[in-house]
Amino acid sequence: MNIAVRYYSRGGNTKKIAEAIAEAVGVEAKTVSEPLSEDVDILFLGSAPYAFDIDDEVKKFISGIHVSVGKVVNFSTSAAVKSTRKYIEKLLAEKQIPIAEEEFSCRGAFAMLHKGRPNESDQKAAAEFARKIIS
Ligand SMILES: Cc1cc2nc3c(=O)[nH]c(=O)nc-3n(C[C@H](O)[C@H](O)[C@H](O)COP(=O)(O)O)c2cc1C
Repeated sequence: MNIAVRYYSRGGNTKKIAEAIAEAVGVEAKTVSEPLSEDVDILFLGSAPYAFDIDDEVKKFISGIHVSVGKVVNFSTSAAVKSTRKYIEKLLAEKQIPIAEEEFSCRGAFAMLHKGRPNESDQKAAAEFARKIIS
């Protein structure tokens, strides 16, 4: 099975989860500035909301996908919203790339909120989630 992990992280929160997922599935976590160069069965794609949207870098990455992707598994960190799924889903639909029902999301520190998140327990949960997805 060919697996890839891509993420966008301004402050490092989503990066922590990306690295936990990547380690669990045995690949390297790369940023969305690195396009996919070969077909993948599963793409773990990480992002966070900023002012009710995802960063343009993530949008650019999705629109630039020119390989076959079996499915995208969304993961995200956020301060308030449940996840970034609604933003990602829409962009993937335009490319006819399936998105998995399952996703991983957890709180990410922002200003005075959620200090220390994602924490070790979030990272463990993300790793466990990823192992289940590929099993
Ligand atoms: C400028 C800015 C805007 C944000 N807007 C939102 C938002 O609209 N909804 C939300 O749930 N979280 C919001 N957050 C919180 C981030 O999504 C959260 O801290 C996330 O973990 C950041 O991930 P990162 O460290 O990987 O960039 C915002 C954070 C920043 C810095």
